[in-house]
Amino acid sequence: MSASADPTTTRIDPVGAPLLGRVLCPPDKSISHRSALFAAMAEGTTTIDRYLVAQDTLSTLGAIEALGADVRRDGDRVVIHGVGLRGLKAAAGTIDVGNAGTLLRLIVGWIAGIPGLTATLDGDASIRKRPMGRVMEPLAQMNAGLEATDGKFAPVHVTGGTLRAIEYTLPMASAQVKSCVLIAGMLADGETTVVEPVASRDHTERMLVAAGAPLTRSGDRISITTTELISPGDLTVPGDPSSAAFPIAAALLVPGSRVDVDEVSMNWTRAGFVHIARRMGASIEGPVEEPGTPHTTPETTATLSVSHGPLRGTTVDADEVPLAIDELPLVALLGCFAELGEITTVKGAQELRVKETDRIAAVSEELGALGGKITPTDDGFIVEGTGGLRGGTLHSRGDHRMAMIGALAGLASEEGVSVIDIEAAAVSYPTFLDDLAALRSR
Ligand code: S3P
Repeated sequence: MSASADPTTTRIDPVGAPLLGRVLCPPDKSISHRSALFAAMAEGTTTIDRYLVAQDTLSTLGAIEALGADVRRDGDRVVIHGVGLRGLKAAAGTIDVGNAGTLLRLIVGWIAGIPGLTATLDGDASIRKRPMGRVMEPLAQMNAGLEATDGKFAPVHVTGGTLRAIEYTLPMASAQVKSCVLIAGMLADGETTVVEPVASRDHTERMLVAAGAPLTRSGDRISITTTELISPGDLTVPGDPSSAAFPIAAALLVPGSRVDVDEVSMNWTRAGFVHIARRMGASIEGPVEEPGTPHTTPETTATLSVSHGPLRGTTVDADEVPLAIDELPLVALLGCFAELGEITTVKGAQELRVKETDRIAAVSEELGALGGKITPTDDGFIVEGTGGLRGGTLHSRGDHRMAMIGALAGLASEEGVSVIDIEAAAVSYPTFLDDLAALRSR
């Protein structure tokens, strides 16, 4: 959701008492997008349970419907009758991806592989600033036709082609680009290989393998060959570790808190925040997968039990960044609450500059305005712990994760925080304020 013209201001006062209780982790956004897309690529009917009902993932249902899939939703159960991998129909008009970068980057990989099909995709003001050159470049090498504003921004116009297989070394650690090329690879002639500089979330690999696609991995090389049919079978979406990180952080920041978060995905490619927070001294009990668990393993969930305690600083290096990319703003918030003089450093995270907003600038300026001591760098930030935050006003900048950070900062601050455009949280976690309220009222 982009910043609305006249955003509301929501006051979040210091909680003044421990947060206690349990939260059911919201369904995973990345897996919900992929479930809907792969169900649309399948032939016949796929039932998805615990689909994330949030703005981003509703955009995905709208997009696949526009391209010919039949979509029925009842609460968080979605039944999709797919069009088949090569059965995409031309959409009547521009396909609206809203605020969803994952949807836009993945779906162009599919459209690009249908010879002669044309489609125009566009979204909100934030989407129009997100770099698309990163997917246009490999798709052009594969023989798809793509045009965009200034050659790199939405709206993007795609003309599908007869794709040739390529070997593509990702210039940045991006699961979205990896997934786009692998999806196009199913429609290309021969074997397409993506080489990853650093491991990033592997949902596409796990889900395509489970759906019978000819995908293999050897070290940092992921290969896929021409595919006629994928059969995802019925799916249940595990809880989103990136959403779980918010109630976890709330419990870590508010003295005396004890919170359980149920049904969190244990996928090791998403577990960076738990490891980082534990290094900062956080008490988070519960299992996460062993690093390196293969992409042939089904995704499972567990409960994480969190207790408040003192926090210290830590360093996050480039290798760890993709495993916690969406949680790094929260690492900055925890860093502010670390004990006096404790330093938290994040390096190699220049990708944060091209998220829903420039998250390096946003955390530095917005948490700085609440009393935090944060120095932005080209590829991350350095936070000096002061044991807490004073409070003040935080503007979400239309970024769902910044909106939720504002709410947590308010709860744990001395004076409270007025959050401008907290509604942005609805992009990934619409029940966030209700979940926090339930933990407060115990
Ligand atoms: C996502 C990958 C990440 C992440 C985004 C979701 C995905 O983006 O930040 O929220 O579902 O593949 P990048 O691939 O650009 O790092």
